[in-house]
Amino acid sequence: MTSPKPRVVLGVSAGIAAYKACELLRRLTESGHDVTVVPTADALRFVGEPTWAALSGNPVSSRVWDGVAEVPHVRLGQAADLVFVAPATADLLARAANGLADDLLTNTLLTARCPVVFAPAMHTEMWEHPATRANVATLRARGVVVVEPASGRLTGKDTGTGRLPDPAELFEVARHVLARGTGGRDLAGRHVVVSAGGTREAIDPVRFIGNRSSGLQGYALARTAVARGARVTLVSANVALPEPAGARTVPTGSAEEMRRAVLEAAGTADAVVMAAAVADFRPSGYQGSKIKKTEGGEPEPIRLVKNPDILAELGETRHPGQVIVGFAAETENVLDNGRAKLARKRSDLLVVNQVGEDLTFGRPDNAAVILGADGSQTEVPRGAKEALAEIVWDLVAARFAPFPPD
Ligand code: CTP
Repeated sequence: MTSPKPRVVLGVSAGIAAYKACELLRRLTESGHDVTVVPTADALRFVGEPTWAALSGNPVSSRVWDGVAEVPHVRLGQAADLVFVAPATADLLARAANGLADDLLTNTLLTARCPVVFAPAMHTEMWEHPATRANVATLRARGVVVVEPASGRLTGKDTGTGRLPDPAELFEVARHVLARGTGGRDLAGRHVVVSAGGTREAIDPVRFIGNRSSGLQGYALARTAVARGARVTLVSANVALPEPAGARTVPTGSAEEMRRAVLEAAGTADAVVMAAAVADFRPSGYQGSKIKKTEGGEPEPIRLVKNPDILAELGETRHPGQVIVGFAAETENVLDNGRAKLARKRSDLLVVNQVGEDLTFGRPDNAAVILGADGSQTEVPRGAKEALAEIVWDLVAARFAPFPPD
C-alpha cells in the first residue's frame, strides 16, 4: 500500500507576489503533495481561479459558502498536514493574529492543528509598521513560522525589505516544516547566528588567499533553523548559493568583516554557530595596486599575520545562557585535537569533521563527531548536511534554558 500524499493548503492573499505562489504550487505537486489552494477573494484579482485549479488538480474556493454540505471551512484545516500562506499580506497577518474568520482561508487557519507557515510580502513601510510587527510577534509566539521577507526590488520602483523569497527556497521551508511535523518549532522565540562559507584575505586588488569551503553546511544550518521557528542571521562569506528564505543574510568577505558582523549579531543571539572556514592568517600588508611580474626576478615573499579568532572571542564575551558552537576540520588525531580545541575556544559544542582531498568540501553529505563541553560525544554517520544540521540544533536546543513562565 502506498502512503497517502501529504496534504497541503496553500493560502494566497492579495499581493502582486501571488504569481510566485504558482511556482511554489508546482514544486509541491511535482514532489508528491496533494495541494488545495485557498486564495482570498482579492488574491483572485492577481491570479485567477483556473490557474490555481489547473496547477493543483483540486477545486478552488475563497468562500465558506461553496460546497457547504462538505463543511469546507472546517474540513480543510482539520485534514491538512501543512498550511502555507504565500504571499501573506499585512491585512491577512492582522486577521490571522486576531483570529478573524471572514473567509475560507482565515477559517482554515483557525481549524488547522498542523504546522502553519506565513511568507509575508509587502512594502517595507507596511512590514516595519508597529501594527504588523505586533501581529508577527503574536503569530510567532503561537508557534507559527513567519518567514522573514527578502530585500530587493518591490512593486514599482522602490527597493527594500518586503519581497517574497524565491519560490524554490519557500519550497525548502515547506519541506522541512512538513518533515518535522507538529511540535517541531522548538527554536521559536530564539535568535541564532550562523556563519558560513570561507573568508578571503586580499593580497592585492585582484588576488586573495581563500579556502575551499562551499557554504553548504552553514546554509543547511540556516534553513533548518528557520523551519524550527528561529530568527536566523546568516553571516556569509563568498558563497555562491541561493539565500535561504527567512534568514537575514549578511554578506562579508574577509575574516575581519566576518568578525564585525558576527559579534554585532551575537549581541542578541541565543546561539552562535561558526560553520565558516575563517582564514587563520592574512597578508601583513595589502598592496593597493596589482603586483606585477618583475623582469627575471623572483617574486617578493608574502608575509602573513594572524587573524582574530572569532570563535575564541565569542567564547570569552558570551552572555549568560548563550550557546556557542564551533566546527573543526581535522586530518589526524581527530578526537584528541577536537577536545583540546573545544576547551581552548571555550565553546559548548564542537562539530569535528575529518577532512581530506575529497571529504566534506563542496559535498552534499558530511560525517562528524560532535563533542560537548559536558563530556558528551555524539557520532553522526555520513549523511546529508541537513541531517547533521538537525542534530546540531537538537543539541543546541537541549542546552537552552527554558523560557520563564508567563
Ligand atoms: N574560527 C574563527 N576564527 C578564526 C579561525 C577559526 O572563528 N580566525 C572558527 C571556525 O569558524 C571554526 C573553528 O574556529 O568554527 C575552527 O577552528 P580552527 O582553530 O581554525 O581549527 P581548524 O580550522 O580545524 O584548524 P587548525 O587546527 O589548524 O587551527
